[in-house]
Amino acid sequence: MDLNGRLIGDVGVNRHDEGRQAEIGFTLAPRFQGGGYASEAVRRVVGHLLAEEGLHRVHASVDGRNDRSARLLRRLGFRLEGREIQSCWAKGEWTDDLRYAVLASEWSRSSA
Ligand SMILES: CC(C)(COP(=O)(O)OP(=O)(O)OC[C@H]1O[C@@H](n2cnc3c(N)ncnc32)[C@H](O)[C@@H]1OP(=O)(O)O)[C@@H](O)C(=O)NCCC(=O)NCCS
Repeated sequence: MDLNGRLIGDVGVNRHDEGRQAEIGFTLAPRFQGGGYASEAVRRVVGHLLAEEGLHRVHASVDGRNDRSARLLRRLGFRLEGREIQSCWAKGEWTDDLRYAVLASEWSRSSA
């Protein structure tokens, strides 16, 4: 993510299933959070993957304690597909893993 020529975050894309679907991840520098920049960047990347590249599905995995990430994904129309209970050891404790996803057909309806 670039703000006036300055790198403030990133959106990672990992394509799989012969490039037909992808997992995304994203990070925004703390001082720029709360302004909608990450939502805007992730929306552009997901829109590009689904509407322009023609992928079938985009998904993301979120630490159950990470409310900001989950809110971002829901704001963009991702569905919660599942919660793996205490499936990850992170920051000294077992934590849930939330699985979010959106299909190309759902994305085109939500952005129509
Ligand atoms: C996850 C992360 C990118 C979210 O950052 P963020 O700035 O909260 O994300 P958004 O761009 O969606 O901004 C939403 C916030 O901006 C506000 N906002 C202001 N203007 C806005 C606009 N035009 N559009 C959308 N939101 C706007 C929203 O109200 C919201 O605030 P709230 O959460 O207090 O309700 C950030 O917390 C982060 O980098 N975390 C560490 C890395 C991480 O956890 N990555 C996820 C792994 S998948």
